[in-house]
Amino acid sequence: DDGARASGRALWWETAGNIVNGALSQVIIVALITLTASRAVGGTMEPLVAVAIIGMCLRFTTMIDEIGANVMGMEERRQMMNHLDAVMDAELMAEPEGRTDLPDPGAVGLDDVVFGYRTDVPVLDGVSLDVPARSMCAIVGPSGSGKTTIARLLARFWDVDSGTVRVGGTDVRDMPTAQLMEQLSMVFQDVYLFDDTLAANIRIGNPVADDEQIRWAADLAGVTEIVERLPHGWDTRVGEGGRALSGGERQRVSIARALLKRAPIVLLDEATSALDAENEANIVAAMEELRRTSTLIVIAHKLETIAAADQVIVLDDAGHVAQRGRHEDLVEVEGPYRSFWEQRTRARGWALV
Ligand SMILES: Nc1ncnc2c1ncn2[C@@H]1O[C@H](COP(=O)(O)OP(=O)(O)O)[C@@H](O)[C@H]1O
Ligand SMILES: [Mg+2]
Repeated sequence: DDGARASGRALWWETAGNIVNGALSQVIIVALITLTASRAVGGTMEPLVAVAIIGMCLRFTTMIDEIGANVMGMEERRQMMNHLDAVMDAELMAEPEGRTDLPDPGAVGLDDVVFGYRTDVPVLDGVSLDVPARSMCAIVGPSGSGKTTIARLLARFWDVDSGTVRVGGTDVRDMPTAQLMEQLSMVFQDVYLFDDTLAANIRIGNPVADDEQIRWAADLAGVTEIVERLPHGWDTRVGEGGRALSGGERQRVSIARALLKRAPIVLLDEATSALDAENEANIVAAMEELRRTSTLIVIAHKLETIAAADQVIVLDDAGHVAQRGRHEDLVEVEGPYRSFWEQRTRARGWALV
């Protein structure tokens, strides 16, 4: 409703602006022509000159109209320009110039991390975790408990308020962004694709990959099935942001990128199982493959993923780690994990009749 009202208001202003602009330019022209004509009639101006001036005045009408329209167009785009300015003017994060040696490649950790998107509301409040190289860690917790936030902090989309985020055994603030990005593959829920073909979008994971490697990654991640449905197959352009594909399909492309990239650490924000059952088989196969070579941090919704993890981190609503351990041990004790597990296993038996 607010949006509709705001657009209505903007339209009124634009219309009013157009009327004023049009009227004003006409008034100026009519005044100029009247003045010229009266001088010609009064004999103080050569008729030929008067005709020339009137012709010039008429040329001006369109110009004045256009200038007015452009000024109004600029006003209209101001908001978009302000957004762009906000990005361009944002302060750069400090990062060192030179690469550092990573003491523990593939390992990931948080030490007593406190973080909030706004300083007065902490999302994570003293979170610590340690994920050894080549192991798999599942993060579970209620919606809004900060699971995705942990993945974003590992990729240094934000800096922590206090504590440290370690990747490869080094504080993420002590390595250049390029080096950090080499360590990570990210499969997030809001995947951005570029307006290019599917193959080109997968190749972003590894620009020197050959066609065979791309097919392998696409098969494993389930992208090949999408290709078969598309009008121009592999050459179909996906549109800016990947408009032509569903959210689950975009995530599969992103998994194929990760398979191709072979980064030591993979962050995976799993699609909620209820929303995206079609994705399940592909994600399971891809995850098994990634697990052989990489550390996996999975924000897990599927029970199979959680049970297969070497370590489960349970977050609570207050931004703390409520429980941690292996699935087999956690289900044995009374606590949030057990009630979560019981609830989910019961829900799995549900059927529509
Ligand atoms: N970009 C953002 N700006 C401000 N608040 C955010 C942003 N992203 C997430 N939040 C807030 O941070 C909290 C944790 O979000 P998130 O990490 O996405 O939770 P989860 O993934 O566990 O559902 C939520 O309260 C959410 O509203
Ligand atoms: Mg999330």
